[in-house]
Amino acid sequence: MNLKKLSMTIASALLPLAAMAGNGVELEHLGVDNTLLRVTGEGRYLILPVQENVDDARINVIVDNQIVKTFYARLAKSKTDYTVPFDLTPYRGHKVEMLIETPQGRSSVREAKGDVCWKTIGVSDTFDTTNREKYRPAYHHTPLYGWMNDPNGMFYKDGKWHLYYQHNPYGSKWQNMTWGHSVSSDLVNWEHLPLAIEPDGLGSIFSGSCVLDPENTVGYGNDAVIAMYTSAAKSQIQSLAGSRDGGMTFKKYDGNPVITLESEARDPNMFWNPDTKEWTLVLAHALDHEMLIFTSPDMKKWTLQSAFGKGLGAQEGVWECPDLFELPVEGSGKSKWVLICNINPGGPFGGSAAQYFVGDFDGRTFTADTGRDGKVPTKWMDYGKDHYATVSWSDAPDDRRVVIGWMSNWEYAADVPTMQFRSANTLPRELGLFKGADGETYLASKPAAELSALRGKLMVDAGRTQLGATPVDFTLSPESEGLCEIVTDFDARKNSKVTFTLSNAAGEKVVMTYDAAARTMSMDRTAAGVSDFSGNFPAVTVAPTRENNGRVSLRIFVDRSSVELFGNDGRFVMTNLVFPNAPYLDLSVSATDGGARLNSLKIYSIKH
Ligand code: FRU
Repeated sequence: MNLKKLSMTIASALLPLAAMAGNGVELEHLGVDNTLLRVTGEGRYLILPVQENVDDARINVIVDNQIVKTFYARLAKSKTDYTVPFDLTPYRGHKVEMLIETPQGRSSVREAKGDVCWKTIGVSDTFDTTNREKYRPAYHHTPLYGWMNDPNGMFYKDGKWHLYYQHNPYGSKWQNMTWGHSVSSDLVNWEHLPLAIEPDGLGSIFSGSCVLDPENTVGYGNDAVIAMYTSAAKSQIQSLAGSRDGGMTFKKYDGNPVITLESEARDPNMFWNPDTKEWTLVLAHALDHEMLIFTSPDMKKWTLQSAFGKGLGAQEGVWECPDLFELPVEGSGKSKWVLICNINPGGPFGGSAAQYFVGDFDGRTFTADTGRDGKVPTKWMDYGKDHYATVSWSDAPDDRRVVIGWMSNWEYAADVPTMQFRSANTLPRELGLFKGADGETYLASKPAAELSALRGKLMVDAGRTQLGATPVDFTLSPESEGLCEIVTDFDARKNSKVTFTLSNAAGEKVVMTYDAAARTMSMDRTAAGVSDFSGNFPAVTVAPTRENNGRVSLRIFVDRSSVELFGNDGRFVMTNLVFPNAPYLDLSVSATDGGARLNSLKIYSIKH
């Protein structure tokens, strides 16, 4: 070591741990991996620089010398990937400090001081949420920034569809679970609202549901919206909160928790049962692979009535996010009950997926129908890889049962190639029941009727066309950016395979094939675009089509990073993420083995 370098090293080692000022904050490095930040300037937000691949720092927010909140953020060490805002407005006029424990294991204070976050962390009146990332969906619900998983607590009231969601407001990976909030009057355009339920002393806020309580059975008033969610810390316990302002803000119940169990239980889903005049709640007994059913007069005292599911259906993964409701069976004049049991892993193509059971519910016990073989069949709502945690809106108008799912998969959700935000929801879907040719009752999920409003310019309008081995090609206008709805129907010969290939200038493609002999529809995304972020991403997914005459209609919605295929009015559905390097502007259609007749094919651009 030369002398000059040595003297500099000594000089910096002897420097007092002086406060550094700038950006409306003062920093004092208290020791290795430990920094005190004082907010000295005025501003709405403290802007935190984040680096995705470092560990979380633990941040205690100290207001007038008391810790009021603890959260975690991946504070940037060597580069800033994006920033997140911490809202300072609740503490205006008070002394605000943050005691920050960084986990990077530096060897000296001097080294810790070099972290890039300290150079730009600061207060600001604005936070730019404009997101120009190429994979940000143009017409699917996404958070403004930060991480999202399950949809939560959806309810409809006064013309508005409320949608809460599992949200990390301080980064684009799972952490700090909070209920984010959005609202829509048309299920197409979403307005982003302030955080609705934030972590507290009982834990972070996991998934749950909301109901309206017009008769004030709970005590929050006649017009209250009541939420039940899982408080998750050392244990998973169930908590209650009520809102008197239509779901904007919630006051937590003083007597929380209202349900405790010895083993992991979460994601309470409630509804009012008009037959028994009781609140009914389904709770995922996650590791026991079953759903528990409780009833209550007031949502505070709950009685366990029954358990459903041990040994039935897909059992590989944990059971999560239940939903229970009654639906008419098309054309039968009868109705049946449906119990949705999301599971992870153990889906038909790996990872997370939404299974369901059809049966009867007597107010206490759910009994699943058995098939012709006397066994309870395993059924899936969607045969893609990216449809999870699907649950329905309560109090939807006209007895509609509208659901939305998280359009990702726990196998790779945290690794998909987006940055400032992570994850979108599926398009909203409307459920119905139908009898399949095998005598079984199945769920159909069609695109919600409101989605027709997305249709823009008719870019392709093809009439009857004979299909054979030579592909018929259609081109989308570049202005569409590849965002489209493809609407088609065709008749396939007995052994034919009809293939729709979406492709782009980079040679990437999504291949969708109807196989008349197998009565299946498949979607191959192995060459769809970027997939190197996870070995579990490349996949061919296959859905049974449940028809018996080779006549198929399709509606395919393409967004910047997803393809959703609805067949025969939602009787088979497939949702898959794709990350193309360029928009898919070509569609080619061909048929093998005897061919097929295309009756019509229309492609609409998407208004957004
Ligand atoms: C499902 C889930 C739920 C839980 C939530 C936590 O994806 O694991 O069971 O409540 O996510 O974010």
